[in-house]
Amino acid sequence: MKDKFHYYCNSCGHSSSKWLGKCPDCNAWSSFVEEPFIEDSTEKRYVTLKSNPSKPKNLMEVDVNKIDRWITHIDEFDQLLGGGIMPGSLSLIGGDPGIGKSTLMLQIAAAIANQNKKILYISGEESEEQLKHRAERISLHSENIFLYNETCLENICNEIDALKPQMLIVDSIQTIYSNKLESAPASVSQIKWAAGQLLYIAKKINIPIFLIGHITKEGFIAGPKLLEHIVDTVLYFEGDKFQLYRILRVVKNRFGPINEICIFEMTSTGLTSIKNASEIFLSGRVSKSPGSVILPCMEGSRAFLLEIQALVSPSYYGNSRRMALGIDLNRLHMLVAVLEKKMEYHLGTQDIFVNVVGGINIIDPAADLAIAIAIISSYINKHVAEKVTLFGEVGLTGEIRAVQQADARIKEAYNLGFDVCVLPVINKNTITNKKPISLIGIENVKGGIDFLWQ
Ligand code: TYD
Ligand code: MG
Repeated sequence: MKDKFHYYCNSCGHSSSKWLGKCPDCNAWSSFVEEPFIEDSTEKRYVTLKSNPSKPKNLMEVDVNKIDRWITHIDEFDQLLGGGIMPGSLSLIGGDPGIGKSTLMLQIAAAIANQNKKILYISGEESEEQLKHRAERISLHSENIFLYNETCLENICNEIDALKPQMLIVDSIQTIYSNKLESAPASVSQIKWAAGQLLYIAKKINIPIFLIGHITKEGFIAGPKLLEHIVDTVLYFEGDKFQLYRILRVVKNRFGPINEICIFEMTSTGLTSIKNASEIFLSGRVSKSPGSVILPCMEGSRAFLLEIQALVSPSYYGNSRRMALGIDLNRLHMLVAVLEKKMEYHLGTQDIFVNVVGGINIIDPAADLAIAIAIISSYINKHVAEKVTLFGEVGLTGEIRAVQQADARIKEAYNLGFDVCVLPVINKNTITNKKPISLIGIENVKGGIDFLWQ
């Protein structure tokens, strides 16, 4: 009987035969919970879906032209997925509670329902009345959407068999349970099991399925991280739910590019996508303030301008603090070390805070130079000239390394009325499409500082 129980990490699903204080896989603390062991018996394996069993097919006979992606006409969302929704795909939409997952899914359902396709919306969280209320806010009037308030996987499968929907939305995967497993709903084994079964259904009857998953930091409900391996596409909402702007990022996509982003605004009538992202991100900028730098950033294939802010102030109690919002903290530590060692700024006695305005998380290495200059600007209390943008990767010897897509960055800076762009010298030499914007190629951080504040 002892072997029938197993320990699982609530955050990533790592399994262990004994309890562990820290997960060796995702480094979460106290995340292990005891659950009944999932036995691999065939009789439990598959849901009872009455479609015909498939046969092996010769590779040469597989026709890719037959695959038609479904276009939602929600601007940029189609592009985000790599050209529309892929039939037979299983996607995960993750994000904090209240960020807009259900709203987005309902809008997608509306767009597809208008193309005469039947949609089944499984809601384990909200009643039909609550969903109807939301549908009215986004002016959704379609006869092709069916709401189903159910959390039992077996009942859902029966309903799929009966209704034959062309798209399925599960809101949320954490509420779904199978009565074939003994563990509690929202446990690691239940979530993995339900997702596995839904993947099987998506492939078997070739319909797109969207799963909504909450991210929780407390670890009470198993996080959607453990589903990332199972699903085809993973979309995460970033940003602060107290702000108007929501960023949807693709972190995994079996049928398209990754790291593409789509920026939405939450309005009183649902989410609307935003095209002029730069103007939005720069709207509240106070010019001529030390510590503020404009970066032409690339996320996926999109270029837009972002404001990087740094605040450097003397630390007390002999313990200097480093804080990073929107950038990796380790990257900040590295840049500070480079500035100390190579430029001889005494930052060891200073608290350093860096923030990316707009609640966006940037992974673009070209942000290094902008971050370093923002820190120095705040430290020496001198502002960067108003119409200057900077980008480039900083190496450990303080050198500025070339980055990708310099042309697109310069174009965006020019379009928004910037006069000067400071960039890696190697990039400057390869620019083909010359814009009337002055390009300052630099080899190291010192070159940038000399140019800005000679
Ligand atoms: P919701 O989609 O319920 O979030 P999630 O499913 O991720 O938990 O939406 C959350 C917030 O959005 C909620 O606070 C209400 C707000 N909202 C609007 O501002 N406008 C709208 O048209 C809708 C439908 C919601
Ligand atoms: Mg919701």
